[in-house]
Amino acid sequence: MVDRIGAAWWCACAVGMLVVGACLAGETSEYRRQLGSAVDMPLDADVFRAPPGRNAPQQVHITQGNHDGTAMIISWVTTIEPGSSTVLYGTSEDNLNFSADGKHTQYTFYNYTSGYIHHCTIKKLEFDTKYYYAVGIGQTVRKFWFRTPPKSGPDVPYTFGLIGDLGQSYDSNITLAHYESNSKAQAVLFVGDLCYADNYPYHDNVRWDTWARFVERNVAYQPWIWTAGNHEIDFAPELGETKPFKPYSYRYPTPYKASGSTAPFWYSVKRASAYIIVLASYSSYGKYTPQYKWLEAEFPKVNRSETPWLIVLLHAPWYNSYNYHYMEGESMRVMYEPWFVKYKVDLVFAGHVHAYERTHRISNVAYNIVNGQCTPVHDQSAPVYITIGDGGNQEGLATNMTAPQPGYSAFRESSFGHAILDIKNRTHAYYTWHRNQDGNAVAADSMWFTNRYWQPTDESLDDSQ
Ligand SMILES: *[C@@H]1O[C@H](CO)[C@@H](O)[C@H](O)[C@H]1NC(C)=O
Ligand SMILES: *[C@@H]1O[C@H](CO)[C@@H](O)[C@H](O)[C@H]1NC(C)=O
Ligand SMILES: *[C@@H]1O[C@H](CO)[C@@H](O)[C@H](O)[C@H]1NC(C)=O
Ligand SMILES: *[C@@H]1O[C@H](CO)[C@@H](O)[C@H](O)[C@H]1NC(C)=O
Ligand SMILES: *[C@@H]1O[C@H](CO)[C@@H](O)[C@H](O)[C@H]1NC(C)=O
Ligand SMILES: *[C@@H]1O[C@H](CO)[C@@H](O)[C@H](O)[C@H]1NC(C)=O
Ligand SMILES: [Fe+2]
Repeated sequence: MVDRIGAAWWCACAVGMLVVGACLAGETSEYRRQLGSAVDMPLDADVFRAPPGRNAPQQVHITQGNHDGTAMIISWVTTIEPGSSTVLYGTSEDNLNFSADGKHTQYTFYNYTSGYIHHCTIKKLEFDTKYYYAVGIGQTVRKFWFRTPPKSGPDVPYTFGLIGDLGQSYDSNITLAHYESNSKAQAVLFVGDLCYADNYPYHDNVRWDTWARFVERNVAYQPWIWTAGNHEIDFAPELGETKPFKPYSYRYPTPYKASGSTAPFWYSVKRASAYIIVLASYSSYGKYTPQYKWLEAEFPKVNRSETPWLIVLLHAPWYNSYNYHYMEGESMRVMYEPWFVKYKVDLVFAGHVHAYERTHRISNVAYNIVNGQCTPVHDQSAPVYITIGDGGNQEGLATNMTAPQPGYSAFRESSFGHAILDIKNRTHAYYTWHRNQDGNAVAADSMWFTNRYWQPTDESLDDSQ
């Protein structure tokens, strides 16, 4: 099947059926990291240590709290007693003169009982402002800070990090440290599969806690925009746990109501010049479903004069040429790809496959069951698809690729890493992928993106390395 798609592509290319002037060869990087299995850090690892102090807030994390970026959801866990759900905050480090009250909750999973999970949304923040905040009021107080995004506008620069399938192995720790070494990045677009607790006996939810302590060093200071992956489902009828996404939903709230969504797994946010749509690969998406109706109404709402960069996050990639999870994203692609082309989505980021891959701008929307037109074609209205499931979790790397490399695939490599999307203005964004073995200035894959709305036919840059 793969070979046939690849062959048909090259054939079409050869007879000049495509609009593009040049036929671009895909690249399969020969680089191989040392293949050891990715091993989870032990429970007594330094990064899992709870903070000192009685009932000290731990697992602090923040995510965007409304549609335009002027609210933030602050979350944390206390273990001995609930304590306070209040957040004190302010723009001066020693004058936290605003306060907001949150709530706490708790859940059980089989024989595990969570700590007291606090969520507090702080609102009416100024744009582009550094805020300090404190949690643990009346007990052990811990202080952090974050910066709100600038007000949305077409030429507002902003830098996103891209991380997926992170897990909590030694490699995960290297990926996070490597990401942190890039001081420009301001928020993370996380494409799903957080902690991999479900790989442990009884889905040992202690691993949800260790993961949250591990990533706190970054996510307490910059918001991570969450996407639900398959490792968030935690559907375990054999343990009496039949509510999908239970631990994930208790721990990682999203601002879904602000975009008219009816569930936390699909929603949108604006951030600077980007409009980010998060989709749920593991919630129903067929016609007439809540997600379908939401997305159908959502695309026309995007004002590309205000937020030129239209980015979609989802977990199971639609275009993936590894022999892992091959075609798992296919049914969702069939449902939604025509909209992605019609509304000129710029970039689609996915995870799930534990490797890296970037496609050319391609679409596959002509097929109607009988016409035989089921081959991806070069399409300047189509997004570039990037698989960035290479965070370094314990399941190890996806190394088995389909051969030959299909024509839609521009670059692929089996290494752990992360990516950076550096939006410059309404027309240009610079994208780089960083493998863990390199210094932080080295990009193993890079590309200038031209915006599909403002430069709909500019193909001069998009396929260059
Ligand atoms: C907090 O202090 C800042 C100055 O540091 C001031 O602008 C703001 O109005 C104060 N807010 C409240 C609620 O007192
Ligand atoms: C949960 O049950 C498993 C299997 O019986 C056991 O190994 C584990 O220690 C239990 N955990 C708790 C927190 O009771
Ligand atoms: C994780 O990475 C941090 C930052 O590089 C380092 O300080 C820490 O010792 C590492 N921990 C483990 C268990 O690898
Ligand atoms: C789209 O955004 C631009 C720039 O912010 C604004 O001038 C315009 O009114 C908006 N259009 C709609 C339909 O809201
Ligand atoms: C790679 O995947 C293909 C297709 O699933 C399989 O036939 C082949 O044995 C795999 N190769 C290796 C080295 O695992
Ligand atoms: C947008 O950014 C690109 C890359 O930095 C630059 O070449 C271009 O001149 C900028 N466009 C405008 C209108 O400033
Ligand atoms: Fe996954």
